[in-house]
Amino acid sequence: MRLRVHATTTMAASMAVRWFNVRDRKCRVKCLQTLEALFSSRAGVGITRAEDALKDEGEKKKTGPKALHVLQAERQAEAERSVLISCLPKTHLNKFLTYLSRHGNINKYFFYESFGTYAVVEFSDQDGLQSLLESAVVPSISHESVVPLRSRLLSLRNTSTGNTDKQSAPQCQPQRTVPINELIQRLSSSTSLEQQIISLTEAHSLTEENIRLRFLICSLVSDIAAAYFPECSIRPFGSSVNGFGKLGCDLDMFLDLDAIGANGSNTPRSGMYMEYQMKRNSSERAVTQSVLSVIAECLEQFGPGCVGVQKILNARCPLVRFAHQPSGFQCDLTANNRVAMRSTELLYLFGELDPRARALVFTVRCWARVHGITSSIPGAWITNFSLTIMVVFFLQRRSPPILPTLDRLRELAAPSEKCIIDGNDCTFTRDFHRIQLETNTESLDQLLSDFFEFYSTFLFNKMSINIRKGKEEHKPELGPLHIQNPFETSLNVSKNVNTSQLERFVSLCQESAWMLQSGGTLTTLLLPSQISAVRSRKKRKREPASERIKGLLESLRTQNNVKTK
Ligand code: GTP
Ligand code: MG
Repeated sequence: MRLRVHATTTMAASMAVRWFNVRDRKCRVKCLQTLEALFSSRAGVGITRAEDALKDEGEKKKTGPKALHVLQAERQAEAERSVLISCLPKTHLNKFLTYLSRHGNINKYFFYESFGTYAVVEFSDQDGLQSLLESAVVPSISHESVVPLRSRLLSLRNTSTGNTDKQSAPQCQPQRTVPINELIQRLSSSTSLEQQIISLTEAHSLTEENIRLRFLICSLVSDIAAAYFPECSIRPFGSSVNGFGKLGCDLDMFLDLDAIGANGSNTPRSGMYMEYQMKRNSSERAVTQSVLSVIAECLEQFGPGCVGVQKILNARCPLVRFAHQPSGFQCDLTANNRVAMRSTELLYLFGELDPRARALVFTVRCWARVHGITSSIPGAWITNFSLTIMVVFFLQRRSPPILPTLDRLRELAAPSEKCIIDGNDCTFTRDFHRIQLETNTESLDQLLSDFFEFYSTFLFNKMSINIRKGKEEHKPELGPLHIQNPFETSLNVSKNVNTSQLERFVSLCQESAWMLQSGGTLTTLLLPSQISAVRSRKKRKREPASERIKGLLESLRTQNNVKTK
């Protein structure tokens, strides 16, 4: 048996998991039940204890979804008891488990493949984990000087767990979304638009295992940062945990430094101060920059599996970007980014309140990506975050509304939920029991079609999108697209978007609305060639337009006239 602390790593892609919690509501239509069934059936896929997943589901039905901070704490604790093991390509599952069980009880495990086979193993307590780590040796490579860094990334190079029998090989969980052509093919076998939307959501959502891996990578990076800042913690935020993450999305990490020095530093009983706290920096931003800079150096020099480390410290929100090879994640580490953490909690809440929100966001994001409305390269494009806010706003504007406004969620907050960050009121309730939704039974088909129509006719030149109020307001500044930052209300989250990108978005919305109203499906909507065909048909004015489409075109004409005045 030979477990080695990982000093070198191989390239790997991102992992797979599914994590949907849906509240049981009596008055939902069939599509909601279908989505609910989908989300529930996904919980715990590939995890060793299926009965645990069922128990969790039953619990969820009784008590409602958990608040994000509660879930995060649970997942963080699981990650702290877990290891990532690079295995030989042919591993015998039972021998592997027997070997690890000698160190302690295994709670959960799964395998994934990505330029090598990896296993994530969670022990039921720290003792098992520590026993395994103590048994691992740092490799000695005669021609290199090895830094003997101990980490929870291990490699198992043990022939006795090898395998020649296919049946006893571990099953690897998928890690990436299917390519778009394959997805379109898959969707074409669905009988309705609604079914297609559900299939797309299913294909794109993060899986349970993928979320676990994201928490584990945060925990591994946290071990490195803790060498300097022992009380710090690193948690995922953004789409990794807000319910809108697509397999393969980046891993946004939040370095929480607030616990450092909180331990009685204001009222020292011993009269003893820690020297490192005496180093003064000119501003909080400067402190964040120095801390991130130090961690970046550590990751670059010693972080197992961390490559391509870049310090982007002069950005509005300073960050360290790197690739974590064994997981395949592109990671963005920021520090004390509390407002972004709050936005994550808010989006999570919206996604949990109504499953149609997630299904629409996944569909709109996919549509935007295939038509080049969004991009992985920073620029004048609309971001996924902005698109999500646009969907939330649209759902707040339905009659009756599908989602509550942020102001309403603030009114519902208990006094203990009051939250002010840097002078910004970030209060809203995180308690699902306090939120009563109105009954709206619109189908996903209707909503998708109306989403495109809504933004085809939205007065972007005059109005701002505001999810706090749940209604459009006059724009406070010039600029093509104004989406008010929900918490830092003087900021525009889409400040980067230029006129031509907004025009492309509006024109695609018009064409997509047209297509859906003419009986088109999601497969046609996701094929750029179909959209250009509609464009040329519209130019030739050959299509007989329904009364509804005529009305839409009329309002577009009026809007364009207003724009050009
Ligand atoms: P993808 O990574 O594209 O899947 O989506 P994401 O939601 O994770 O977006 P991104 O990685 O760009 O940003 C991570 C998180 O930072 C978001 O979920 C938001 O919580 C927050 N964020 C991103 N952009 C903005 C912005 O312009 N303003 C504010 N206030 N927060 C932002
Ligand atoms: Mg992200």
